[in-house]
Amino acid sequence: MRILVVGGTGTIGQAVVSKLRKEHEVITAGRTSGDVQVDLTATESIESLFKKVGHVDAIVNASGAATFKLVEDMTPEDNLVAVQSKLLGQINLALIGQKYLRNHGSITLTTGVMKDDPIPGGASAALANGGVAAFVKSAAIDFTHGIRINCVSPNVLVESFEQYKESFRGFTPVPVERVATAYVKSVEGKQTGQEYQIY
Ligand SMILES: NC(=O)c1ccc[n+]([C@@H]2O[C@H](COP(=O)([O-])OP(=O)(O)OC[C@H]3O[C@@H](n4cnc5c(N)ncnc54)[C@H](OP(=O)(O)O)[C@@H]3O)[C@@H](O)[C@H]2O)c1
Repeated sequence: MRILVVGGTGTIGQAVVSKLRKEHEVITAGRTSGDVQVDLTATESIESLFKKVGHVDAIVNASGAATFKLVEDMTPEDNLVAVQSKLLGQINLALIGQKYLRNHGSITLTTGVMKDDPIPGGASAALANGGVAAFVKSAAIDFTHGIRINCVSPNVLVESFEQYKESFRGFTPVPVERVATAYVKSVEGKQTGQEYQIY
């Protein structure tokens, strides 16, 4: 398969790419890193990415930003970061990318644990995660030609825990290797409309 991994140079992305590269051709994309550049917050940038990359069998996204701030301190502008990146960035990748997917291709997006297990300051990210998960479940029944769509909802990673441990007190972090396996299941398997919760 020919697979595009946006965020392929990040903590999750690198683990996904190293698994997929064993059997597939993988193209990585990031804002400044990767084989090709894209900013998911801009639709023109997504269009230009696919014009460069062409047709693929799978699109994976392992990127998305959010502002982590207590709701009492959060402004509408703070909230827009998650809406433009984690939510609309991923949905626009799917909407634009579907035109470049071969029959029986797949789209795999990323959500996250805080929508199911709240953390302080996580409401904006949770909103985006919830929107993406709902889109995936619903979009799956619209696709024809064998096109599939899933998302992966990782818990906080072992590899990122030191950085985020104050927000994730009492959580049991998961190894990125386990999270990456869920992306492989989405790409290589037959399921659609799923959210793989790796908690
Ligand atoms: N780490 C965790 O514990 C954890 C847990 C649950 C969910 N998640 C979610 O999983 C996703 C990936 O997390 P991570 O820890 O692997 O992130 P990371 O290590 O910070 O890597 C982010 C990746 O995304 C790319 N990227 C960032 N903004 C982008 C944009 N606007 N357009 C295109 N590419 C962009 C980066 O490339 P450039 O640097 O070149 O832009 C990089 O390749 C995030 O949505 C995160 O919220 C992470």
